[in-house]
Amino acid sequence: LHVAVLMGGWSAEREVSLVSGNGVAEACERLGHRVTRIDMGRDVATRLAEAKPDVVFNALHGTPGEDGTVQGMLDLMGLAYTHSGLATSVIAIDKVLTKQALVPHGIRMPAGRIVASESLFAGDPLPRPYVVKPVNEGSSVGVAIVTAEGNYGDPIGRDVPGPWGEFESLLAEPYIRGRELTTSVIDTADGPKALGITELIPKNGWYDYAAKYTDGLTTHVCPAENIPDDVVASMLAMSIKAHELLGCKGVSRSDFRWDDSAGEAGVYLLEVNTQPGMTPLSLVPEQAKLVGMSYDELVQAVIDEALS
Ligand code: DAL
Ligand code: MG
Repeated sequence: LHVAVLMGGWSAEREVSLVSGNGVAEACERLGHRVTRIDMGRDVATRLAEAKPDVVFNALHGTPGEDGTVQGMLDLMGLAYTHSGLATSVIAIDKVLTKQALVPHGIRMPAGRIVASESLFAGDPLPRPYVVKPVNEGSSVGVAIVTAEGNYGDPIGRDVPGPWGEFESLLAEPYIRGRELTTSVIDTADGPKALGITELIPKNGWYDYAAKYTDGLTTHVCPAENIPDDVVASMLAMSIKAHELLGCKGVSRSDFRWDDSAGEAGVYLLEVNTQPGMTPLSLVPEQAKLVGMSYDELVQAVIDEALS
């Protein structure tokens, strides 16, 4: 196959996407595919039209590769592509729309409210502890946790380096004390399948951008340990249901907090990632190994799903 790997772009997660994309491109080469690497710029449609690939592997994270924009372009061009389509992407990138889509169906998520960044100077939007995050970013970019003792991070993201400026829209939600867990779901011929649960234990206490992408800063317990069966079952079921309700394709990753003092009632879905990381430290490839699937086999499975 001729696979065009879309990566990079101009989102806050550009660097992560380059690592994901190069990992995928190398896997495609090992699998015997012809690969065109495309670091996405404004000329992306022209470059794709020239390349005429059999399939586009979308290794973009954040906007516009994860929010439906690129998906709409690929739809218009009639190109097959991996991961979720336009409508799913529009909803899943937006943490408020995701709540609106999932909570009425019985999926427990923290109750959030939109806040104006200026209002954060005037006082707390919620009782502490709470989290403030951009509505549509990934990798914990711009996330702040405000506790009784003080802030972790900057509630309006001024300390985030880069050209993207302030975030359009911020969400405040109660901080769920407890444990950080994640579950990947992959589409198979028999329907969506949850791969397992990983617990993330960051050395500095917060699973922030540095903790996510610096080797050694976070312990991944995969599969997660010391979790009661009903909590495991609930998390796996919620991640599959979320994947189905949103119409995710290929692979998705659902991130959870679990208040372990509350049993199953303490399980909260935070968000669904439709373009989960594919870097060497990423969670989906690690969980794929739990079911005997190598990185290369995972890449091939996602490509196969895109062409099915
Ligand atoms: N947003 C990052 C890439 C993830 O979900 O893995
Ligand atoms: Mg995310």
